[in-house]
Amino acid sequence: MENERKKTVFSGIQPSGNLTVGNYLGALRNFSEFTDKYNCLYCVVDQHAITVRQQPAELRRRTYEVLALYIACGLDPEQSILYVQSHVPQHAQLAWVLDCYTMFGELSRMTQFKDKSAKNENNINAGLFTYPVLMAADILLYQTDLVPIGEDQKQHLELTRDIAARFNAVYSDTFVIPEPYMKSGAKIYSLAEPTKKMSKSDQNENAVVRILDPKDTIIKKFRRAVTDSETEVRRAEGKEGISNLMTIYSCFTGKKDEEIEAEFKGVGYGEFKTAVGEACAAELEPIQKRYNEILSDKSYLESVMKNNAEKASYLARKTLSKVYRKVGFTTL
Ligand code: TYM
Repeated sequence: MENERKKTVFSGIQPSGNLTVGNYLGALRNFSEFTDKYNCLYCVVDQHAITVRQQPAELRRRTYEVLALYIACGLDPEQSILYVQSHVPQHAQLAWVLDCYTMFGELSRMTQFKDKSAKNENNINAGLFTYPVLMAADILLYQTDLVPIGEDQKQHLELTRDIAARFNAVYSDTFVIPEPYMKSGAKIYSLAEPTKKMSKSDQNENAVVRILDPKDTIIKKFRRAVTDSETEVRRAEGKEGISNLMTIYSCFTGKKDEEIEAEFKGVGYGEFKTAVGEACAAELEPIQKRYNEILSDKSYLESVMKNNAEKASYLARKTLSKVYRKVGFTTL
């Protein structure tokens, strides 16, 4: 019988702001689905974060926080490799090689680059431009099969696949071509402007629900969510606010659109919004409790960082040395 290779899952989150319900439903919540059957690596991608100016002390603090949140969301650092990107130098080393196999035109078409350059007019740095190549390196370094992500990262994943296929075509099979994994919460919209993605760096606190917001804040934010002038809870064009709340409610309760429409028939938006807030808070509360316990134990988090960086680095070295050999670098 054919001996199937155990598949690998990789994903990452930037420690560039307090994580939102968008990050949770689009990515983080799905990470634990794979841990029993796959080799899983979940990275805190601090090197990506500095493409936008960060306060050093805040970046350091948030790196611990995202790691603590990974664990609080049910990831076990003995089972999955939970680590920090800058602790494994092979990411940046592979990114340099892949830079030389990525076209200027491809990077110029990345919508996130265009959006972020518009938002950071005074700091359109080279890292912001080549950021998708570092992301490709993150993924390809571990021969990843599956990448759980939100919709905003899909274009970067497609570029990753193109880079991998190009490299494989030139040098024979080197990288596994990864697939994205997305579910119904892959795009959660802003509560203030429901045609825009919910973003952790949004300046308007009412637009975002944070994973760590207390229950009353969560409910207050949902109650303030922008909707429309009708009163009917149903998914439709022109009802982006309500449609977004329905997606969120469905993710937290497992209910389908028809059930949600029936549940809130004739009761108006107020009650629906409160129910969305209650459902969200109910799921987040135990995570917050665990998070606070984990975060208070810094030496535990440091030991997780260290042990897991070593495990990741061991795997990363294998791919990197293969790549170095293929491109013609000499070895010592
Ligand atoms: P980041 O840190 O912006 O977001 C982390 C994850 O959350 C998803 N996400 C959302 N999903 C649904 N609705 C939203 N409003 C929403 N906002 C964010 C993102 O799609 C992402 O999955 N470049 C990545 C980090 C990264 C990475 C990687 C991911 C670096 N290397 C390798 C996967 C594999 C980023 O900036 O995600």
